[in-house]
Amino acid sequence: MAKELIIPGQDLIKEEKYRILMPQIHSLLVDENDMIANMANVAAVLKAGFNFLWVGFYIARDKQLVLGPYQGPVACTRIEKGKGVCGTVWLNKNSIIVPDVSQFSGHIACSTDSKSEIVIPGISKKKVIFVLDIDSAELNTFNESDRKHLEIIVGKLVQYSDC
Ligand code: SME
Repeated sequence: MAKELIIPGQDLIKEEKYRILMPQIHSLLVDENDMIANMANVAAVLKAGFNFLWVGFYIARDKQLVLGPYQGPVACTRIEKGKGVCGTVWLNKNSIIVPDVSQFSGHIACSTDSKSEIVIPGISKKKVIFVLDIDSAELNTFNESDRKHLEIIVGKLVQYSDC
């Protein structure tokens, strides 16, 4: 049965929001081993918790990332390895924070409303199997606290899913 989400107040600082959301994400993931189902719930929790413009996953398939579960406006379906922020994260296996997408050479603009973003790789057996992409309608939304918490969330997603 679906669990009811406790959504943090939008006035809280982001660390408080993560403190409220992390145990709920853990309890959603720990009982489910399907990667797509887990991606869908993580996207839903982060969208509801932070009201980001777009939260979603791209799954690594051969030479392209293919759109996976997401919440937000309609998005590009395929991204080449090394292209855009997501393709760069896939290639380099490191998270990227983009304070201003207009300053990122090769940024793929799925929505003109997107102003800043963070992309986190999901790594299993030393290979990037997906990326978590979060877009914000504001500049400078993401910092090292987001990187730390989102890397933990992505790590749990990999750990509890059959990847
Ligand atoms: N911004 C991404 C493309 C995906 S959309 O933002 C959903 C990028 O440059 O990789």
